[in-house]
Amino acid sequence: MQRLAIQGGFSLNGEVGISGAKNAALPIMCASLLCGNTLRLDNVPDLNDIATMRRLLQQMGVAIESNGKQMALSAAHIGKLEAPYDMVKTMRAAILVLGPLLARFGEALVSLPGGCAIGSRPVDLHIKGLQAMGAEIQIEHGYIHAKCKRLKGARIFFDLVSVTGTENLMMAAAMADGVTVLENAAREPEVMDLASCLIAMGACIEGAGSDTITITGRDKLHGANHCIMPDRIESGTFLVAAAASGGNITLTDARADILENVLEKLQEAGAVINVSGSTISLRMNKRPLAVNVRTAPYPAFPTDMQAQFMAMNTIAEGSAMVVETIFENRFMHVQELRRLGAQIEVEGNTAVIKGCAQLEGATIMATDLRASASLVIAGLAAQGETIVDRIYHLDRGYEHIEAKLSALGAQIRRIR
Ligand code: UD1
Repeated sequence: MQRLAIQGGFSLNGEVGISGAKNAALPIMCASLLCGNTLRLDNVPDLNDIATMRRLLQQMGVAIESNGKQMALSAAHIGKLEAPYDMVKTMRAAILVLGPLLARFGEALVSLPGGCAIGSRPVDLHIKGLQAMGAEIQIEHGYIHAKCKRLKGARIFFDLVSVTGTENLMMAAAMADGVTVLENAAREPEVMDLASCLIAMGACIEGAGSDTITITGRDKLHGANHCIMPDRIESGTFLVAAAASGGNITLTDARADILENVLEKLQEAGAVINVSGSTISLRMNKRPLAVNVRTAPYPAFPTDMQAQFMAMNTIAEGSAMVVETIFENRFMHVQELRRLGAQIEVEGNTAVIKGCAQLEGATIMATDLRASASLVIAGLAAQGETIVDRIYHLDRGYEHIEAKLSALGAQIRRIR
């Protein structure tokens, strides 16, 4: 099991390039299933989740070639319409093959994801939406078995805002017969990135980025070229790391327009932020001020940045309240942060953090992807050595994190 050893107490300074967004790349790779021609992608991040999705698509028959950040996917010959349990359990985003397989081939067998560290995370909204479009769905032996002749356009209202739910149904609707209207749809930028890739493939989609998306189904889609958007969560994570450790960093290849809420919160914490084109700079030369955070669907504060802000609040001046409204069990990092000396009380979905002047290094354990990032941030800000165990979670979603942090002056190394 690999670990990270972090010597805390050094400020972060310099420039760091932001990678392509994991949560845009995964659904877009699945969109390749919608046609028999080649989908050429650029800015694909080098991550374990991308490797898992690649294996999943390859075992279905998708031909995939990679060259650095470029990836070409061709689903001309699909032999297997199945996403097995082994893959879905390591990466829930595998559920995103369901909509495209059903729309193009009329059948799909996809394992139910089951629970995960941050909550039960059901996929009932994906299933209900596809049923509304005419799919026959049976749940057998832990698998979703979906069949249809051709999906039909429908009006679908999401009871809860679901990012991958919106993406799955948008892909399915792109090849359905007639018009589909998704209401209370997710407005996340990654949904917009998928929509723009689907439009380049010939799909007819209006309103992506708003809560009502209208899709007019096409008989056929075709190949296209698409460049994956920058990762807003990776961007936010580096900015919070610099705000917690002090220093002066510049993100390149980033987008400030999709990070507004996060940037505002960092300014509230006392950071000086400058945006110019695709660069975002942050300067912090004092102890951060505590900031309250309440997660909610985009454009509100992202749940995927909650743990990182919690880490910053542990060493901030004052007390802060962090409310998690999306996932019921997303405070797994609290116990670990406490091992570093953090003062955090949790009651239901609310954590109250009393900032302390100094954290002290210890051995801690990563429990999920974003929780791992918060532990690294806390380790960078702590006095002495912190060992973060089980960093395979981190490798799922952060490209070369220790190399990027080292280049900024962090004392961090991987123990293999
Ligand atoms: C996506 C992101 C994840 C992020 C999350 C919320 C990807 C690959 N992952 O996950 O990083 O943390 O959005 O921004 O893009 N729900 C149901 N039934 C469903 C679907 C969802 O009850 O069928 C609930 C979930 O349990 C959760 C809430 O709805 O409480 C939002 O989940 P959702 O937006 O679907 O998260 P994901 O798409 O899985």
